[in-house]
Amino acid sequence: MTIEKVGIVGAGQMGNGIAHVFALAEYEVLMTDISEDALSAAVALIERNLDRQVSKDLITQAQKTDAMKRITTTPTLTDLGKTDLIIEAATERETIKTAIFEDLVPHLKPDTILTSNTSSISITRLASRTDRPEKFMGFHFMNPVPIMQLVELIRGIATDEATFKACHAVVERLGKTSATAEDFPAFIVNRILMPMINEAIYTLYEGVGSVQSIDTSLKLGANHPMGPLELADFIGLDTCLAIMNVLHDGLADTKYRPCPLLTKYVEAGWLGRKSQRGFYDYRSGTPVPTR
Ligand SMILES: NC(=O)c1ccc[n+]([C@@H]2O[C@H](COP(=O)([O-])OP(=O)(O)OC[C@H]3O[C@@H](n4cnc5c(N)ncnc54)[C@H](O)[C@@H]3O)[C@@H](O)[C@H]2O)c1
Repeated sequence: MTIEKVGIVGAGQMGNGIAHVFALAEYEVLMTDISEDALSAAVALIERNLDRQVSKDLITQAQKTDAMKRITTTPTLTDLGKTDLIIEAATERETIKTAIFEDLVPHLKPDTILTSNTSSISITRLASRTDRPEKFMGFHFMNPVPIMQLVELIRGIATDEATFKACHAVVERLGKTSATAEDFPAFIVNRILMPMINEAIYTLYEGVGSVQSIDTSLKLGANHPMGPLELADFIGLDTCLAIMNVLHDGLADTKYRPCPLLTKYVEAGWLGRKSQRGFYDYRSGTPVPTR
């Protein structure tokens, strides 16, 4: 399977980073989103992030210019049918992802590989809604994609070896490192990380500590580069809640119960950095704790 053209569905936080790293690794990238504003914002952000890499001498100006030329966008999902590999990075909601794959399937080439960047949803279940479960995998990047080294590769029950090897080779061409996870709720990274973030929110909810004291404790007491609440804001509180719900439903264990305070923030539309307010308020430019 030769992969040269890559389709990306969703131009949000993850989609723009994924487009960035694929274009730098000399793949042709075609990106789509239901929001045309999201598409233009993603292209502008990729350009700014590439400029930052040029200014730090991580890449040359020519690499940046070539990478930008390799990225095209389309508002029409089915245009991605002509690509060799599709990475779905739309909102973490199963009905959205399933609808995307169902719309795409009739337009795909016979050997196009389908993948999802989902943080937690069953790869086997998503694959079963397509015509090619053997050519379907989890391709889970970490945020921010240009900086984080890991890609989790998740096989569904039916994923064949050729598909796995093709995706593994793509990760190597991106200069990243893969870890293989079995298809169980939230895979490896989020199975461990999200309950810690959820526990930090319970710690806040029960009044054990303030936002500031919880984040300072984990940064200076456990040597974490970011506090758990700062990290939750960075990931997006809607995504955190969606992952906790998948763990809770999928493993049927009360230890994964999402903290009611997390639900309340999401209901308020306080989704973290992407909406300018979460456990911190970012609107003044300097993060101010909201509790
Ligand atoms: N945020 C993280 O730290 C992180 C890390 C790893 C994986 N992920 C996963 O990546 C995926 C995307 O997360 P994100 O943080 O980029 O979310 P986001 O909210 O920043 O972006 C999601 C994008 O999907 C678009 N979208 C929604 N429905 C669509 C549709 N039907 N067709 C095309 N586009 C559609 C939205 O307009 C939005 O631009 C999720 O599955 C999430 O679990 C997120």
